[in-house]
Amino acid sequence: MTDVSNNQLPERVDVVIIGAGAAGLMCAATAGQRGRSALVLDHANKVGKKILMSGGGRCNFTNLYTSAENFYSGNPHFCKSALARYSQWDFIALVEKYGIAYHEKALGQLFCDNKSKDIVDLLLAECRAAKAQIRTRCAVSTIQFEQNGYLVETNLGLVHCESLVVATGGLSIPTMGATGFGYDIARQFGLDIVPTRAALVPFTQHKRQLQRQDSLPGSSLAVTASCGEGSFHEQMLFTHRGLSGPAVLQISSHWREGQAVTFDLAPDRDLVDWLRHCRQGSPESHLHSVLAELWSKKLVQFFLQRLDIASRPLKQFSDAELQALGAKLQTWKLVPDGTEGYRTAEVTLGGVDTDQVSSRTMECKTQSGLYFVGEVLDVTGWLGGFNFQWAWASGHAAGEVA
Ligand code: FDA
Repeated sequence: MTDVSNNQLPERVDVVIIGAGAAGLMCAATAGQRGRSALVLDHANKVGKKILMSGGGRCNFTNLYTSAENFYSGNPHFCKSALARYSQWDFIALVEKYGIAYHEKALGQLFCDNKSKDIVDLLLAECRAAKAQIRTRCAVSTIQFEQNGYLVETNLGLVHCESLVVATGGLSIPTMGATGFGYDIARQFGLDIVPTRAALVPFTQHKRQLQRQDSLPGSSLAVTASCGEGSFHEQMLFTHRGLSGPAVLQISSHWREGQAVTFDLAPDRDLVDWLRHCRQGSPESHLHSVLAELWSKKLVQFFLQRLDIASRPLKQFSDAELQALGAKLQTWKLVPDGTEGYRTAEVTLGGVDTDQVSSRTMECKTQSGLYFVGEVLDVTGWLGGFNFQWAWASGHAAGEVA
């Protein structure tokens, strides 16, 4: 970054926040409530674009069971302090204060009954009440550290602030305004970046494999997907590009190129026991019709074809055959070709190294007055409202001191 040429008198505010997303707006409202003059700058044409598109338009704004275990980070303890001081219950209280109707969909995931815009409106109302200003279509070009703060050069003029909060999010969905600018600022001030990668993202499969499963897009089933240390029991969905659905998105955060993912295709039962039981009760039943109790006909046909097993009456299967069949279906191994990448990923793993940031205030330990909040940090949540809870909690933590 170059030096700022400083011929004009800069506008002066206490806090500049770069990024009008979930974390930035929460930070601005919190700082403003303390009487700090806060200005949020965003290069996009409107605020909170990811909030608007989240949760299928209904924003999964938090999770009832949020805890540090639901996050990936080089330092798994980093998120604890902020999450404890601004919890899911605090955000739920705010949602209730605005009379926003919501419901629990599954596994503690709270969604708006109506639309995600309710959450953006809530944040904008909080910012208005706290007299925080928001400027969209405002691109920041350079940042210069001065003795008493930061000089921020934008296409709309120079701004001087005591505290600078970086809330620029991760790299996912560039078409929604995502950039690596937050990482550039971190590097400018000597902070390390934990290598980034797309996460909560669908898997792609090879053309040959897609041809084999060309009748399946749209089909879904409950599975347990496992890879490395991760294991998730949720739905999997076949798509035209490969595999998606919550189980796949979750396990993608653990997957690395070339690794196999193991799927238990009947996670709620011991398949061998169950097939033996069926054989005893109805020996004349064909394997495919018994398996149709678990999966759609298309899926049964696909799995049996893949295992090269011809359907016949259960009585014709030996114990050893049932054993082999059960083992294959409960440890189905697949090596994805890749992922759909940042184009469709919900989040970015990695980011600004938390070693150099205070877990209490989000201030950089080596650069006074510089803060990082939200997804730009090396803190990434599971699917299910955890990423927004991190944005609220970290934005709030910085807003209390910046
Ligand atoms: P966020 O990305 O929200 O905001 C960053 C802001 O910075 C943007 O407004 C951007 O325009 C701005 N910016 C970037 N570069 C800039 C620059 N150079 N200059 C100025 N401004 C700049 N999570 C969850 O908990 N529940 C859910 O339901 C979903 N659903 C979901 C769906 C989809 C499709 C996606 C892509 C993501 C989700 N997420 C989610 C994840 C969630 O949206 C994400 O973790 C948070 O929005 C992160 O909040 P931040 O404020 O950190 O970044």
